[in-house]
Amino acid sequence: MQLTISSVFLSVLLASTVTAAPLHSRTGKNKANKSKMMMGGNAAQTAAKSAVGAAYWITNEGAGNFVVAAAIGSDGKLTLSQATSTEGQGSHGAPGDGPDALFTQGAVKASAAGGIVAAVNAGSNTISVFNIDSTNPTNLEMIGKPVGSGGEFPVSLAINKAGNMVCTVNGGAINGVACFNVDKTKGLTPIANTVRSLKLNQTTPANGPAGSVSHVIFSEDNTQLIASVKGLPPTPGMLAVWDISSSDNSLSADFKAVQPAKGGLLPFSMTVIEGKNAILATDAGLGVDIFDFSGGVTAGTAAGKSSTLGITGQGATCWSSFSSKTGNFYVTDIDTSQVTEINVDDNLKPTIVTQYAQGNGTATIDNDIAAVGSNDFMYVLAANATEVKVLSLNAPGKAQALQTLDIAGPAKAAGLTVSAANLQGMTTFIKK
Ligand SMILES: *[C@@H]1O[C@H](CO)[C@@H](O)[C@H](O)[C@H]1NC(C)=O
Ligand SMILES: *[C@@H]1O[C@H](CO)[C@@H](O)[C@H](O)[C@H]1NC(C)=O
Ligand SMILES: *[C@@H]1O[C@H](CO)[C@@H](O)[C@H](O)[C@H]1NC(C)=O
Ligand SMILES: *[C@@H]1O[C@H](CO)[C@@H](O)[C@H](O)[C@H]1NC(C)=O
Repeated sequence: MQLTISSVFLSVLLASTVTAAPLHSRTGKNKANKSKMMMGGNAAQTAAKSAVGAAYWITNEGAGNFVVAAAIGSDGKLTLSQATSTEGQGSHGAPGDGPDALFTQGAVKASAAGGIVAAVNAGSNTISVFNIDSTNPTNLEMIGKPVGSGGEFPVSLAINKAGNMVCTVNGGAINGVACFNVDKTKGLTPIANTVRSLKLNQTTPANGPAGSVSHVIFSEDNTQLIASVKGLPPTPGMLAVWDISSSDNSLSADFKAVQPAKGGLLPFSMTVIEGKNAILATDAGLGVDIFDFSGGVTAGTAAGKSSTLGITGQGATCWSSFSSKTGNFYVTDIDTSQVTEINVDDNLKPTIVTQYAQGNGTATIDNDIAAVGSNDFMYVLAANATEVKVLSLNAPGKAQALQTLDIAGPAKAAGLTVSAANLQGMTTFIKK
């Protein structure tokens, strides 16, 4: 078993080395092969140098994937500044051709502790890692070269608290997780015995959204790695939970499969409920699933205070973040283009606080929340509008629309290919 898996990993590593070669000539045709593209002119570069942090997402284009970086100002507002090639290719799941190409949260992930950004290249089965320039957080320098993802169609990333371990989940025909050490000069190096299969009957590119892989995270105490998988109705999906060895960071050979409480169907993003050993997962089928792991992780239907919360009128609630400032969770729906604010009380009971419309048809997908000064700000990729919506989270139930950032215009001016169907991911970094 172990031998088979590691030889698959090796062949994937080799394959990615081979496919990396023709990249330059292919991307050269659409002039999108420059490794860095400045956006927004001199004012943007000045803003980037005085930024308190940055927001990142990926273009996920098949002809060449870029990490797009916008400076975060001291007022929480964004200024588009720079795009950096991942030296890899994006992809799009089947059979649809709309926004949310990868069916996931976490396609790009920043770590303040590590001073790094990691991004998936779903079309070349690789992961790229970058160092964040300490003087200009929109300026990324690739560390080493992209590495094989340990499977096919890598779609989501998690970084541990220390910022020195990156794990990915692959959602294609060869699916499952794989983890890497972060070496600040060599880049990502595979960690032995972390390539673990999800045993899904999938294709490359993945077929979805039903039955596809959604997200990967570390548990709050970093002792477990958790991947979410949407169900194939009427069969519910699951959270797959592996134990991480404290001695060598290897993963348990098999995962424990935990299905959502009754009614849950399509677990998507996962956000830790701090201090509770519990997870809030969005559920594209109804709203939100609460997974209570305080009594330990046991295979089967989620136990304890696990529950589900329906969001009336929802279409597909798929992405989530938590605000320390308001103490509430914020989830986005690609169909209704609404942000829903959710409170989870001490007994893990979720309730809807309020909703914020972001414009019909904008298709709000990935989001992240950053603390700037004494406020929290929410950054929402409105993929279909090729925009980012910025909300100021002053107090519970009182989010305010702060800014709409256009991506398409500045990208076109810079010669960077972006499209509503492929844009994916949202992650933030704030300087210490
Ligand atoms: C971009 O592509 C052109 C044409 O293929 C090539 O001459 C140039 O060296 C490439 N630049 C980079 C940075 O790869
Ligand atoms: C895998 O999925 C394909 C397509 O739905 C199906 O034809 C095939 O029977 C499935 N294989 C297994 C082993 O379930
Ligand atoms: C957005 O769509 C909803 C549901 O179809 C509808 O009730 C609402 O009036 C629409 N809002 C706008 C501004 O068009
Ligand atoms: C995207 O926008 C187009 C119109 O520009 C609309 O027809 C389509 O329904 C939108 N898609 C989503 C997922 O919102």
